Amino acid sequence: MTENRRIAVITGANRGLGLETARQLARRGYKAVLTSRDAVQGKAAADKLQGEALDVGYHPLDVTRTESMQRLAEFLHNAFGRLDVLINNAGIFPEQDLAHGARSAPGVLELPLESLRENLQTNAFGPLRLIQMIVPLMRRHGYGRIVNISSGYGQLARMEHGLPAYRMSKAMLNVITCLVAAELGSENIKINSVDPGWVRTRMGGAQATSSPAEAAEWVVEAATLSDAGPSGVFLKHGQPIDW
Ligand SMILES: NC(=O)c1ccc[n+]([C@@H]2O[C@H](COP(=O)([O-])OP(=O)(O)OC[C@H]3O[C@@H](n4cnc5c(N)ncnc54)[C@H](OP(=O)(O)O)[C@@H]3O)[C@@H](O)[C@H]2O)c1
Repeated sequence: MTENRRIAVITGANRGLGLETARQLARRGYKAVLTSRDAVQGKAAADKLQGEALDVGYHPLDVTRTESMQRLAEFLHNAFGRLDVLINNAGIFPEQDLAHGARSAPGVLELPLESLRENLQTNAFGPLRLIQMIVPLMRRHGYGRIVNISSGYGQLARMEHGLPAYRMSKAMLNVITCLVAAELGSENIKINSVDPGWVRTRMGGAQATSSPAEAAEWVVEAATLSDAGPSGVFLKHGQPIDW
């Protein structure tokens, strides 16, 4: 089956920034496919958006499980025959309790590799594997926009003490952005990293400076870039920032 509407997949869309990004893409006329690792929560989020008269779908997805990603890719192929937008939003921040300037937090010299592996699995390997599966669907119609939700904590230009696993996972995600952009070359499939800023979600906490709706606007901007837009850059508030 083929579809003419633009189709967007958002990972980790049952709450937080992912849910708000799905809402805003749907408001712009995209068919937004919400995904989540917990089907009950994900379907409830999709129902909520459908209750707002938005055209959204739902499919389960755990970005740490290859079979789960394969099932999503097959579903997209069978249901729509295309994919236009992939938002790699799902992420974990196990060092969260230690964030926001806790200098006593364990540093890289004490980092248990198990913690690093867990962070990389969700925040970097999952997005890369999804990109590998999804790019062929984008190439079918010569169009794609991929947004990797990164973080200022992954910025090499501002590497500091603390939160080493999360920092490394987001820095690796940024490298993935650069490598995929280089490999896609002049194809009309753009991939960029976005730093959403500090956002009031479960991860960001109540003190954060931006609402999910404000942060999602910048994600949606990167997801809807024109053909003249950039690829292989790190964006914050719509502007390129240092890696
Ligand atoms: N909030 C901030 O200040 C901030 C700042 C910079 C970057 N970010 C990034 O923004 C993105 C969204 O975070 P958020 O603030 O919206 O946090 P959040 O409310 O904690 O949401 C994280 C989402 O990721 C999902 N997730 C985690 N592991 C997953 C897996 N293995 N498979 C599928 N989904 C998974 C979670 O699902 P469950 O509900 O099942 O756990 C949840 O839907 C993350 O990549 C984060 O690193 C956030």
